[in-house]
Amino acid sequence: MGKNINIAVLVSGTGTLLEAIIQDRIEIKLVAADRECRGIEIAKTAGIPTKVVGRGFGKDFDREAYTKQMVELLKKHDIDLVVMAGFMTFFAPPMIEAFRDRILNSHPSLLPAFKGAHAVRDALEAGVTETGTTIHIATELLDEGRVLAQEKVKVKPGDTEETLHERIKQEERRLYPIAVRKIVAELSDQ
Ligand code: GRF
Repeated sequence: MGKNINIAVLVSGTGTLLEAIIQDRIEIKLVAADRECRGIEIAKTAGIPTKVVGRGFGKDFDREAYTKQMVELLKKHDIDLVVMAGFMTFFAPPMIEAFRDRILNSHPSLLPAFKGAHAVRDALEAGVTETGTTIHIATELLDEGRVLAQEKVKVKPGDTEETLHERIKQEERRLYPIAVRKIVAELSDQ
């Protein structure tokens, strides 16, 4: 039997990807957030320990210091794998140095297209007929890194950012637990 892999899920929003991971019965050691959000409530209801490491959103936000605070929290909880599930703060390099190849991200576009925080809106504005989701290993570069899974989603006439994002998230909720299990299996055999 491989070694036990302690998972932390990071959230900032509605936490439906977190819900999908919980529903798949993947054991989660900690849910952390950068703000109070529904994701934290989902975790509490599921009996998972939570921690909000709040941040400022002004020009004086210290990304490096914030990242180190989060690394410290994850180390304190003996975390082996970091699963970003709608976590909206981009980490400085100390996070990657501490958890290289052990940080997963799910992004609502077919990377490398439409990186960044407004991927669904940007895809609609570009007039593409197809977008989707990418699950990948996070690196020092925003929305880059080894791709673990991708799924296409068609843009329908009349789609808004909300309707399109919801259809993409249906795919993310299906794919993310599979990808998490795959990486856990890889890590526990190392
Ligand atoms: C997902 O589309 C994810 O790719 C993006 O944020 C969304 C998270 O949704 N980074 P939720 O908060 O899990 O409902």
